[in-house]
Amino acid sequence: RRRRRRPVRVYMDGCFDMMHYGHCNALRQARALGDELVVGVISDDEIKANKGPPVTPLHERMIMVRAVKWVDDIIPDAPYAITEEFMNKLFNEYNIDYIIHGDDPCLLPDGTDAYALAKKAGRYKQIKRTEGVSTTDIVGRMLLCVRERSSDAHNHSSLQRQFSSGHGQKVDDTGSGTGTRVSHFLPTSRRIVQFSNSRGPGPDSRIVYMDGAFDLFHAGHVEILRLARELGDFLLVGIHTDQTISATRGRHRPIMNLHERSLSVLACRYVDEVIIGAPWDVSKDMKAAACWRLEQRCRTLEARAEGLCSSHTMKGAATQWSNGHTTGRRERRTAALEKVAVKQRR
Ligand code: CTP
Repeated sequence: RRRRRRPVRVYMDGCFDMMHYGHCNALRQARALGDELVVGVISDDEIKANKGPPVTPLHERMIMVRAVKWVDDIIPDAPYAITEEFMNKLFNEYNIDYIIHGDDPCLLPDGTDAYALAKKAGRYKQIKRTEGVSTTDIVGRMLLCVRERSSDAHNHSSLQRQFSSGHGQKVDDTGSGTGTRVSHFLPTSRRIVQFSNSRGPGPDSRIVYMDGAFDLFHAGHVEILRLARELGDFLLVGIHTDQTISATRGRHRPIMNLHERSLSVLACRYVDEVIIGAPWDVSKDMKAAACWRLEQRCRTLEARAEGLCSSHTMKGAATQWSNGHTTGRRERRTAALEKVAVKQRR
């Protein structure tokens, strides 16, 4: 009789601040190098000491990482550098076989490699970093958006100062390293397939449809998608076009383009399928053409009304940067989520 082989367990760590599709793609590649993926979410203090203060606190970063469909388990408050002690803990307590990181250098403040010990032990593997997206770039786009919307020059410059000093990077006067807020990111069909689930709804599935912008995909979105998925067996998410969002929320939005937003939503474990560029109104034609039985339709408008919106996140982030602390945003969000849950239970 053949003995079943033990699953290969891989570990990837990271800050996962303002989680984006580059992070999701890193987790997807890491998971493909083994059978089970354990993710270490680096503590706020460690990030502060090594890179400057994170925009999103550990609690929210954990919600985001846990929601990614390729993640099996997480370790909160992970250290920034893989020390001898932590490495032994990974091997002995968590049964980790390999430690994984993107192919960009990850240096400690003293210039040494954060993964040197794992490399020396022959337990390190590398994945390809996703080009064209980073937390720094997204913050740059947000700064430009805040700046365009507000004449409060002082507030903006203090934001900019704090961000550039904390992260050791200069955000230029146009708000981003590349000097533009608009991303021209286009995914290939292969990337979309990599992020997609292969299965469609079963014949008797109760399909839940939810549409929205899902700009700057955040913990509020994750919670609302989780609740929506609980209403049925298959969650179809319609992602509005950039034009629809600009028309409804102002020309400064969205921050992330249609394709970037679609990948973030697709990576979420509660989502079964997305419509990339869904119309604002769900037409009869669309229902017929897509053969979707629209059992439920939860407009994100509802959530928006409850304060679970990305402009709220942006304001929160802005305040956090300039004041160096959160402003009850999590409490407000939790209360709003509870209200939505109660409404849906009725
Ligand atoms: N990563 C990636 N592609 C990106 C950004 C990050 O593959 N565009 C990978 C990193 O290499 C790392 C993991 O995602 O293995 C977590 O990255 P993180 O610690 O959050 O920070 P950064 O590498 O600095 O990413 P960012 O600049 O976006 O914060």
